[in-house]
Amino acid sequence: MQKYALPPFRIKMVEPIELISKKDRIERLKEAGYNPFKLKSEDVFIDLLTDSGTGAMSHFQWAALMQGDESYAGSKSFYRLEKVVKEITGYKYIMPAHQGRGAEQVVIPEMITHPKQYFISNIHFDTTRAHIEIAGARAIDCVIPECFETEKYHPFKGNFDIDKLNEIIVEKGPKNIAGIILTITNNSAGGQPVSLENMRSVCSIARKNSIPIIIDGARYAENSYFIKLREKGYEHKSVKEIASETCALADVFLMSAKKDGLVNIGGLIAIKDNFELFQRCQTNIVPKEGFPTYGGLAGRDMDALAVGLLEALEESYLAYRLDEVKYLGDLLMEAGVPIQNPTGGHAVFVDCGKMVPHIPYDEFPAQAVCNALYLEGGIRPVEIGSLLLGRDPDTHKNIKAEKEFMRLTIPRRTYTLEHLKYVADCLINVFKNRDNIKGLKFTYESPILRHFTARFEPIE
Ligand code: F0G
Repeated sequence: MQKYALPPFRIKMVEPIELISKKDRIERLKEAGYNPFKLKSEDVFIDLLTDSGTGAMSHFQWAALMQGDESYAGSKSFYRLEKVVKEITGYKYIMPAHQGRGAEQVVIPEMITHPKQYFISNIHFDTTRAHIEIAGARAIDCVIPECFETEKYHPFKGNFDIDKLNEIIVEKGPKNIAGIILTITNNSAGGQPVSLENMRSVCSIARKNSIPIIIDGARYAENSYFIKLREKGYEHKSVKEIASETCALADVFLMSAKKDGLVNIGGLIAIKDNFELFQRCQTNIVPKEGFPTYGGLAGRDMDALAVGLLEALEESYLAYRLDEVKYLGDLLMEAGVPIQNPTGGHAVFVDCGKMVPHIPYDEFPAQAVCNALYLEGGIRPVEIGSLLLGRDPDTHKNIKAEKEFMRLTIPRRTYTLEHLKYVADCLINVFKNRDNIKGLKFTYESPILRHFTARFEPIE
């Protein structure tokens, strides 16, 4: 028996990558202000910064690009994309956006009905939180506590804490909740899935309180496959059926198509049946993203997405996808590296609070480990911890993250298991020398979304 599912594709085009010398890596990291976001990709050997827009398209997608219809309004490409999105979601109104945050900036302000409202999510992604705050509302996370017990297995660590959800609604008052956002999978704590049972409970509470439900579906296909694998009663349903069942629960579907759309750029807005909301979003999209039938995308981008959305629901692809992530996680766990267990859909999350407990949260332990891994093997991971969380918008104090994660994000259909074995070997070396890793202090910090542009120096 094969331990890990095989890739259901062969490779017919390659992009050379190069490991620059250790001396050069030391230089480049210093020039980048000890912030991997500021490295040039040519100085990176294995790029695990993100799974967003970094995957490989299939030959069907490349062929689809050629039929792109570059009309400003009502292109054939748009109608081909609309048909696929309607088929998956069952929703009536579809608009493309240039990427996920483009969809957010159009829809989120339109969901806010009066000042001082809140959104509740299992965990908001950082741009979602930013758009909520920019629009004058506040974001509250409401995930189960097991999510932060990294070593403990739980099949659906992305689930909402139902008691806490009820408490928040009572405390804030249902009228003050602008929406509940189902982030599937839950990126910020490990690409962890949310079960359909849990989503059903959340939605029935939302319906009782007349609160709209939004799906942040960046990785909805991976979430659907986890449901098939782990939730009783779904083992014989197709992933597409599970995805449709998920969408049927909500009112709005927002998607960064750069993940489970298998494209390098693109986003989606789908609205189930609220024509009035659709009309307002249609007006709002024009100055922000573009005309409602292209939303910042070229016709060819929409055609590649129409094909990619269906490929990402293929079960042979998803089996391999989840297993390549698990393969890396298994190698690390066997060597004693503390990771979020189980591994998620798109990444292995290393618990750096456990790995380097000598570094306090405001010296950014996970960022320090990211830098060490770059120096070790030219690998670029990303920090998902107190650096990313930023400061409290009201008090401006550094917020302490629940977990100091380093995310090893696996681009789709891009690296081989040999690459991932190399990543594991390098990280295991870093782990053996973890006591020598030092914390960081800012030399530059921007007021919002600071992790992208911050500069640091190591604390000697
Ligand atoms: N929602 C989730 C759950 C995401 O993970 C992202 C992006 C977005 C929304 C925003 O989408 O990037 O297309 O504008 N996540 C990327 C990441 C950037 O690296 O996790 P976008």
